Amino acid sequence: MNNNPIGVYDSGFGGLSVWRELYRALPEESIVYLGDGKNCPYGSLPAEQIRALATDSVRELLQRGCKMIVVACNTATAAAIEYLRATFADVPIVGLEPAVKPACKNTRTGVVGVIATERSLKSEKFLATLAKYGQGVNVIKSVGKGFVEAVEANEEYSPQTEQVVRAVVEPIINKGADVLVLGCTHYPFLRDVIAKVIGDRNVEIIDSGEAVEKRVESLLDEYDLRAESGHKAEYEFVSFAADDYAERLRRKAFSK
Ligand code: DGL
Repeated sequence: MNNNPIGVYDSGFGGLSVWRELYRALPEESIVYLGDGKNCPYGSLPAEQIRALATDSVRELLQRGCKMIVVACNTATAAAIEYLRATFADVPIVGLEPAVKPACKNTRTGVVGVIATERSLKSEKFLATLAKYGQGVNVIKSVGKGFVEAVEANEEYSPQTEQVVRAVVEPIINKGADVLVLGCTHYPFLRDVIAKVIGDRNVEIIDSGEAVEKRVESLLDEYDLRAESGHKAEYEFVSFAADDYAERLRRKAFSK
């Protein structure tokens, strides 16, 4: 038993899509959410820089007493997860990967779309996953250009954002994809507009949120880290950005 918080980290707002899964499924667990904010977006930064930013962030969460870390960012996972696990070896660290495996299993057309950041799509980790699970499947890889910016600006439902989403999603569907992987934690906030662009075409949308929540639960059990029954959870939001970013994180977490 351990009532300390779980630490959840992302470049910005995106990891809140994972935070929400944890909040829903684990009501007795306190969570400290760190959204960098100052250096967001990470998507096109060099891997070494992301590694340094991720290291600072995990250190910050550990200083706040976190018992487990969730790197709720595909980009930081791709660039830094092995390094983080080696550096902070005494704490369980969960990473996030685009859900290529279930997508390649579920496709009937044999065409799958994966939308993620440039850094994620170019990473060795992603290419290895693709080689392992993507055999015989046509996997179309696209950068979600402008997606992160739209979510950070709380512009999910604007006509401009619909255009930005359409420009990426439409060509993937036109190539016959029947499964679309949201390979960045910001993108689930665009699920409604993505679904609107898809319309009545039969395309399944997959993200990694639920799988990560399950992984967190199994590690809580494995390391005997669950909070006591009846523990009153607390939720903290922190950021490296100077303005009211942390407060905006809180508002977004609890918004519809
Ligand atoms: N939310 C992040 C991810 O899952 C990173 C987005 C960004 O900062 O570019 O990849």
